Amino acid sequence: MQLQKDISLLPYNTFGIDKIAKYFAEATNEQDILEAIDFSKKLNLPLIVLGGGSNILLTKDLNAILLKINIQGMEVTKETAEHVFVEVGAGVNWHDFVLDSIEKNWAGVENLSLIPGTVGASPMQNIGAYGIEIKEVFENLTAINRDTLAIEKFDWAQCEFGYRESVFKNKLKGKYIITRVCFKLNKKPIFHTAYGAIQDTLNAMQVNDLTIKAISDAVIHIRQSKLPDPKKIGNAGSFFKNPTIETEKFEALKKQYPSIPGYPMPEGVKVPAAWLIEQTGWKGKRFGNIGVHQNQPLVLVNYGGGDGAEIKSLSEKIQNSVKEKFGILLSPEVNFL
Ligand code: EPU
Repeated sequence: MQLQKDISLLPYNTFGIDKIAKYFAEATNEQDILEAIDFSKKLNLPLIVLGGGSNILLTKDLNAILLKINIQGMEVTKETAEHVFVEVGAGVNWHDFVLDSIEKNWAGVENLSLIPGTVGASPMQNIGAYGIEIKEVFENLTAINRDTLAIEKFDWAQCEFGYRESVFKNKLKGKYIITRVCFKLNKKPIFHTAYGAIQDTLNAMQVNDLTIKAISDAVIHIRQSKLPDPKKIGNAGSFFKNPTIETEKFEALKKQYPSIPGYPMPEGVKVPAAWLIEQTGWKGKRFGNIGVHQNQPLVLVNYGGGDGAEIKSLSEKIQNSVKEKFGILLSPEVNFL
């Protein structure tokens, strides 16, 4: 494995922020990762793991070793009459995996089409969109323990999935490096079209014969019409999570703001952060090279040459406005580096 010095991270983050990593390396197998852990101990520098760089905001140069996980491969490990179990390298591009599955007629991830990032990062924050979360198709994962260097398996329960959460963002934060993820896909599709926009788009596309390919096409269409393409405008998808508030608090807000949307959850009511941000007047606002997207205000954007620290400061201003007006604290979904 080759350790490069003073590397610009511009090509490695979808926000398009130009910061320098003191050291940079790519791992194509488990052995490379073990070597990188060894380097980090010898150089006494932190080892920061990078997937597709689609959920990070670089706010400064990093005096660290940045390790891009580039483990490839997709292997069927088990097959039953109803399911196929497929183990995928952490470095595989998420959308490529989705397209591959659709081509083979394996169902379960079609609603998650076009999500940027890698397979290895997907369980980290239990990625989700259009009515599906990865926890619904997850079987197990393989990860390297950074302290003991042991290669360990995590089953569904051990991952402690929640809304954009897993054990790897909480009590095991920074302790494991995910190398492979195994998914349990369906040979007989179960279609999920309940998320309003999907059914509307399928109707508009005049789809009579529902297939997983049609659902994927619809999701791609919706995403492309609402979300900025990171290849053209830097962004990391949703910047904040949708907050869940107490039912009593929601009822009180509803009296003051009758149009407030809310989705009942076991723990309270989930309120779209996009709505809260729009109501505070931030939607579509541009400040030099950065701003708040005009179609989806949950997405902060870098029009080119923007600075990560400025985006962070904009996100804090948005948090303050929402807190002041609605008494709700938005938590970031992206990770600050
Ligand atoms: N809304 C507004 N104004 C807007 C846009 C949306 O008020 O300009 C409100 C509307 O009430 C709308 C609601 O927000 O019904 C939900 O909007 P949308 O369907 O766009 O979804 P979201 O809740 O804003 C979440 C995920 C997205 C995912 C979509 C679709 C989070 C943090 N974000 O967004 O995930 O694509 O649902 O399932 O849960 C990501 O995580 O990076 C991401 C893009």
